[in-house]
Formats: sequence, C-alpha cells, structure tokens
Amino acid sequence: MPGRHFLQIPGPTNVPDRVLRAMDRPVPDHRGPDLPALVGEIVTGLKQIFQTARGEIILYPASGTGAWEASLANTVSPGDRVLAFTVGHFSRLYAECARRLGAEVDEVDLRWGEGVPPERVYERLANDAAHTFKAVLVVHNETSTGVTSDLRAIREAMRAAGHPALLLVDVVSALGSIDFRFDEWEVDVALTGTQKGLMLPPGMAILCAGPRAIEASARCTAPRYFFDWRPVLEDTRRGYFPYTPATLMLFGLRESLRMLMEEGLPNVFARHRRLAEAVRRAVVADGLSILCKDPALYSHSLTAVVVPVGADAEAVVRAGAERLNLALGTGLGRLKGKAFRIGHLGSLNELEVIATIAGVEMACTLAGIRVPLGAGVAACQQFLMEPRMAARTAT
Ligand SMILES: Cc1ncc(COP(=O)(O)O)c(C=O)c1O
Repeated sequence: MPGRHFLQIPGPTNVPDRVLRAMDRPVPDHRGPDLPALVGEIVTGLKQIFQTARGEIILYPASGTGAWEASLANTVSPGDRVLAFTVGHFSRLYAECARRLGAEVDEVDLRWGEGVPPERVYERLANDAAHTFKAVLVVHNETSTGVTSDLRAIREAMRAAGHPALLLVDVVSALGSIDFRFDEWEVDVALTGTQKGLMLPPGMAILCAGPRAIEASARCTAPRYFFDWRPVLEDTRRGYFPYTPATLMLFGLRESLRMLMEEGLPNVFARHRRLAEAVRRAVVADGLSILCKDPALYSHSLTAVVVPVGADAEAVVRAGAERLNLALGTGLGRLKGKAFRIGHLGSLNELEVIATIAGVEMACTLAGIRVPLGAGVAACQQFLMEPRMAARTAT
C-alpha cells in the first residue's frame, strides 16, 4: 500500500527518522576506543529517564521477556517466595516467568482492567510477619488492559507493612511515556525493552537495579549465565560489555535519549497525557467503552477499547490492517475478541492521533460495529484545540 504505515499498536512504536539515521552506519568494533563515550552517554541518559541517581543500568541484547528473566534470575533464588499481582496478560506472564525459574509464586488474581490495589499489597505483606516474601512483582502499566497502577501508593503500602521484600517493576510500556520515579518510589529493579517509549526497534532489554537488588544478587543462588548482571555491571562501568552488544541499537538509543532530553521529561509526560485524553474522548464520543473504569488509573500510553457484546474485536484489527494499513493492538489472553488496543506512545503528534481515530472509526464500521463516523474525530479535534482545557487535563 502506498503512503505511511500507521503502526498504532502499544509497541513496537514508530521509530523517528532521526533515530533511524543515527543507526544507519557501519558496525563499529565493540571493543574499540570509541565505545566508552557512547556507553557513558547512554548510561547517563537512561538514569535521567529512570529518574535515578542510585540505580545502575544493565543492558542486554534481548526483549522485555529477557528483562523479566534477568530481574528474577539475579534476585530470586529457587524456592524463594514471591508475591505477584495479576491484572492482565503481562503481569500474568511475569508471575509465570518467576514460577518457571523455581520461585514459589503467591499470585493474587485480580480483574483484568483493575490496577494493583495498594491495600491488598499491604494486607499480604503485613500478614507475612516472618518476611518470607523476597520480592513483589508489579507491572506499572499493564499493556493488555491500559491500566497504570499507582506505584507510589504501592511502595507506601510496603513501607507501612514494614516489609523488606524487593520491589521489582516492569516499566515496559511506561518508561519514557508515563512518569516513573525509580529513586523516589524506592524501586529495587525496573525493567523495559527498547521498542515502546524509547522509540527504538525491538532488540534490547534495559534494567535499572538499586543497591538492595545488587546486594541480593551476590547471595542469589539461581543458575544464570547470560543474564548474570554482575559481569555486565562491571564491564558497563568501563564502557564495554561481556557479550557482543547490539552496537547499532546503541547509536539509536543515544539519539532517542537525546530527543527525550531535548523535549524535556515533564513535556514528554504531558504530551502523552494530552494525546491519551484526546483518544479517550474520541472513544467515548464513538459510543465505545474504555476497559479501565477508574480515570485515576487510565494509561497514558494506550487505551483498551471493549467492543459491544456480539461484535468481534479481531475483525476490527483485521479491517484496519487489510483495508487501511493501520495496525491496532489485538485483545490479549482472556480479552481476545473482546477488546482492541490503540497505542498512543512514543513518537506521536496530534494529527497522527486524529488519523488513527479516523481509522478506528472506519475499521469498526467495516467490522459491523455501528459508530457515528466522525464523532470521535471531532471530539479529538475539539479537545486538542482547547489549549487551556487540554493543559489542565495534562497536570
Ligand atoms: C508490560 C509488558 N511487559 C513485558 C512485555 C514483554 O516484552 P517483549 O515482548 O519485548 O519480550 C511486554 C510486551 O509488550 C509488555 O507490554
């Protein structure tokens, strides 16, 4: 199809031309003299994005799934108890990863579309007087449901319970889009991939580990080799890696970090909040339903849209792809056929959002769902043209 492909899934996201151009170069020697300057700038930039001074950056050629495994293989020994909260597809898989690595996982199964309730975190930990839980697993932004849990309140609940468990947080669809504060919220490990808010192709796993997690890794008895972060940490401090890094991705990452810094993190978050609100107004104006019911937990990086009973969300996604060259996210796990997802994270502007909404309305109509064509587009336009109102929503 001629024209631009509309990649509006909640990651991978569109890679800006500037990042593509930064990667379009000969492959360098990864043991050469130029690498430390490149790695140093990346580490400094990532620390700013994670909002940390005490966390250390760990990179692997992998994806978010690899980052899950790395977060657990370095901190949780076989037989250790882990507390996990399942609020969607990815939080379920993170818990499963821990189970496969030999942890004894206490999985709190919640409704998909809810956030992790801080009071449940408190309750579970306060009842664990012997401190048998070694880690708490939380997905900050559940990509399957479009719900952002309140991490500040979760950490507060852990503190109130006086529990020393490590807090391991998946920020795969949050970092670089939604405010995440590693130091302030006393997170022990945060993990992500490159393909979402960082505006890069898939291919790298990024972790930020705090002092307590790094200490835990020295005592951890889990078998690990590639994902053992100790040699990675040691070499990264000198600007190198104990494996062959994805060198061209590193150039792309440096560029995307420069772009985020030029825009300024608060502005990046405000842009995401504003575009997300425009999408939600469009969804409501089109008579469709947002899966997340608590406005305080709306995700600013994606919206999961529930289709009317009897309609098929897969047909919407198919129509978008086949007729419009528009990629929307499918319903995952138990939401298959019931919901589709609109990604609004990464490199994105107002007109791209409006075009996406126009495409959603057409795809729904083609899939047999009655929507008032243009109503969502108009709601979106109206919201985006009311600067004061949009700015107020953005704070
Ligand atoms: C929240 C979350 N965690 C983990 C993953 C898994 O990452 P990957 O597909 O890069 O392995 C994803 C993928 O979309 C995700 O959205």
